[in-house]
Amino acid sequence: MPDLFDLVVVGGGVIGLSVAWRATGRGQRVAVIDPAPVSGASHAAAGMLAPVSEVTYTEEPLLRLGLASLERWPAFAAELTRASGYDLDHRADGTLDVAFGSDDLAALDDLAAFTAALGLPAERLTGRECRRLEPMLAPSVRGGMLAGGDAWVDPRKVTAALLAALDAAGATLVADRVTGLLTSSGAARGVRLASGGSLASGRVVLAAGAWSGSLEGVPPEVLPPVRPVKGQIMRLRSPEPVLSRCVRGVVHGSHVYLVPRGDGELVLGATQEELGFDTRVTAGGLWELLRDARELVPGVTELEVTETIAGLRPGTPDNLPLVGPTIMPGLDLATGHHRGGVLLAPLTADLCAGEDSGGGSGGGDPVLTELAGLCSPLRFARAAPPRPPRTGPIENTPREQR
Ligand code: GLY
Repeated sequence: MPDLFDLVVVGGGVIGLSVAWRATGRGQRVAVIDPAPVSGASHAAAGMLAPVSEVTYTEEPLLRLGLASLERWPAFAAELTRASGYDLDHRADGTLDVAFGSDDLAALDDLAAFTAALGLPAERLTGRECRRLEPMLAPSVRGGMLAGGDAWVDPRKVTAALLAALDAAGATLVADRVTGLLTSSGAARGVRLASGGSLASGRVVLAAGAWSGSLEGVPPEVLPPVRPVKGQIMRLRSPEPVLSRCVRGVVHGSHVYLVPRGDGELVLGATQEELGFDTRVTAGGLWELLRDARELVPGVTELEVTETIAGLRPGTPDNLPLVGPTIMPGLDLATGHHRGGVLLAPLTADLCAGEDSGGGSGGGDPVLTELAGLCSPLRFARAAPPRPPRTGPIENTPREQR
C-alpha cells in the first residue's frame, strides 16, 4: 500500500519547498519529490526582492503580486528562521537603479515618472547623491532612483532553511523523478515515480520550475505553457563589502545587477537567453556581465571569482506566474515565476495554502482572491480531449492499491 499524503509537491526549489512548508504548518502530511532538490533556478538566483526597481510598463499585475509578496517577506523570514535556526541574510535597504549614458538616463527618468504615478516608494537621485550612498560607483554614473522598500535575501540560505524546517515538521523528501499521475474519476490522486513506486495524495502541486511544461505523464491539457529562460550569474568575493545595497543598472540598454551579501560576496547577474534547456556558462555571457558591471562599479574587476553558474527561469507567455487549480481536479500549479521566484515564494505559499482554505482561490480573503485571479492557470486552459468511457471506479491506480 503506498503512503497516503494530503499533498504531494513535484519540485524541490524555493517555490515547491515554500508551498510544502506552509502546508505542514496547516497540519497536512506532505511529500516533496525532486531527483535533485534545490539544484535549479533557486540555487543560481541572486535573491533580489525588488518589485519596484524591476517594474516594467506593461506589467502592473506582476507588480501587484510582487508588492504583496514583498510585504509578506519579513514575517516569512522571521518564521522560517525560528523554525530552522538559519539566518537568511534578509536585508531591506532598498535597490539603487543607476544610469550610465544619456539614453539610460532617459529610461530611468521614464521609470521614475511611472513609479511616481503609481505612488510607489522611489526617489530620483543625481549621480552625486548615488555616490554618496554607494562610494564605489563609477564617476560616470549620471543619476539613479532609490527604491527604498526593495529588499534581498540569500536564496541558498532560504532553501537550506526550508529543507530543515520541512524535516523538523515531519515532511517526506523523495529523491526521485515523477513519471505520471495517479488518477481516479479524472482527478489527480498522486504520482508515479521512476523508481517504480507511487505516492497517493489528496492533492498534487506541480512546482517543477522550468521543467513544469514538459513533465512526463501529465496530460497535455494541464501541462503549463512554461519555457526555460537562461540566466548566467557570477559570484565574486571581496574582503570588505563593496556595496551596502543592491545596485541595478542599465548600461547602453542592457540590464545588470549587483547583489551584496553579508559575508563579502557580490553576485552579478544576469543574462536572459532563450536557448531551451542549455545551462552552459559561456565566455560571452560572463564577458557581458563583467563589461556592464565594471561600467557601474569599476572595482569589480579586482575581486576574486568564486563561482559561475547558469540557471533556467520558468518563463510564461505573459510573464505572470501560474498558481492555483487546473482544469483537472486535485492538480494545482505553482510555477512560471520567471524572474521572481524568490520574491514570490511567500505569496505563492499563501495562495496554495490548502484545499480547505480554497487553495489558489484566496481562501475567502478578497485581496488574496484577486491576486489569485491574476495568476490562475485557467487563463491558459485548453479543452481536454474526450475521455474514453469509464470501465471501473479507478482508472490508473497501481495494482497494489486496488
Ligand atoms: N530577478 C532577477 C533575474 O531573474 O535575473
